[in-house]
Amino acid sequence: MTQTSPAAASQATRSLREPDLRTPIIQVSDLQKTYQTARGALNLFQGLNLQVEAGEMVALVGQSGAGKSTLLHILGALDAPSAGTVYCASTNVANLSTRQAAAFRNREIGYVWQFHYLLPEFTALENVAMPLLARGTNRREATQVAANWLREVGLDDRSDHRPGELSGGEQQRVALARALVNNPRLLLADEPTGDLDEITAGRVFELIERLHRSHGLTSILVTHNLDLAARCTRALRLEGGRLSPLAARPKAAFIPDDLE
Ligand SMILES: Nc1ncnc2c1ncn2[C@@H]1O[C@H](COP(=O)(O)OP(=O)(O)OP(=O)(O)O)[C@@H](O)[C@H]1O
Ligand SMILES: [Mg+2]
Repeated sequence: MTQTSPAAASQATRSLREPDLRTPIIQVSDLQKTYQTARGALNLFQGLNLQVEAGEMVALVGQSGAGKSTLLHILGALDAPSAGTVYCASTNVANLSTRQAAAFRNREIGYVWQFHYLLPEFTALENVAMPLLARGTNRREATQVAANWLREVGLDDRSDHRPGELSGGEQQRVALARALVNNPRLLLADEPTGDLDEITAGRVFELIERLHRSHGLTSILVTHNLDLAARCTRALRLEGGRLSPLAARPKAAFIPDDLE
């Protein structure tokens, strides 16, 4: 059995926090995003507002091209708003320098994409340890914390596999472990199950739900799967540059047995 150092144990314990419920963790007001294209200006958001409380798991649905990925990029300081205010994890993300944005992402945001973006020449364990090493954690501790995370996503027996030697579902589990290894407050997931078959997608979604709860995360998940969206605490549709609650689908009529 692997021994965990006191430092690694304390890092694992820190991740088991309760969400901070005092203020909304995301507060977007009057957001505008304009791309300049060869055909002229493309106004993607027209005064978009969004408030997310700590601990929520919000699904974001909408047609292709609606701007779902762009919204996640703005929340994660990967892209800048054209106008409006965007507070994310107590940070005004519009005002960050490139260096501050990188530090903000490293500290506060776990990002998962449809494609795993694991580095092919490194093992699963090395891929998960990478954000800790980038943050200056020593190699021994980084390896122990990464091993704990691989255990948490059910892949301790795949730690020395390279991404090409893992299934699609396993690759996404490793990508989740890597996204969360620095104990961010927010998980931003852009179609994390989009490339997986239905059963594997369901299992990866269950893992996200479990990690969301056990690590006190606030999560935003882009998905085209309305069944998975319905399992989130709230589902929003992005359409015409604005967000609105996703209408619940009418339930099938209930007919008692004795009336059939
Ligand atoms: N850097 C850019 N320059 C110009 N236009 C862009 C840029 N990035 C995105 N767009 C345009 O903005 C629109 C929204 O793109 P985005 O990727 O956010 O959509 P999406 O809702 O995530 O779609 P999908 O479901 O297909 O992933 C698209 O029409 C896209 O062509
Ligand atoms: Mg997208």
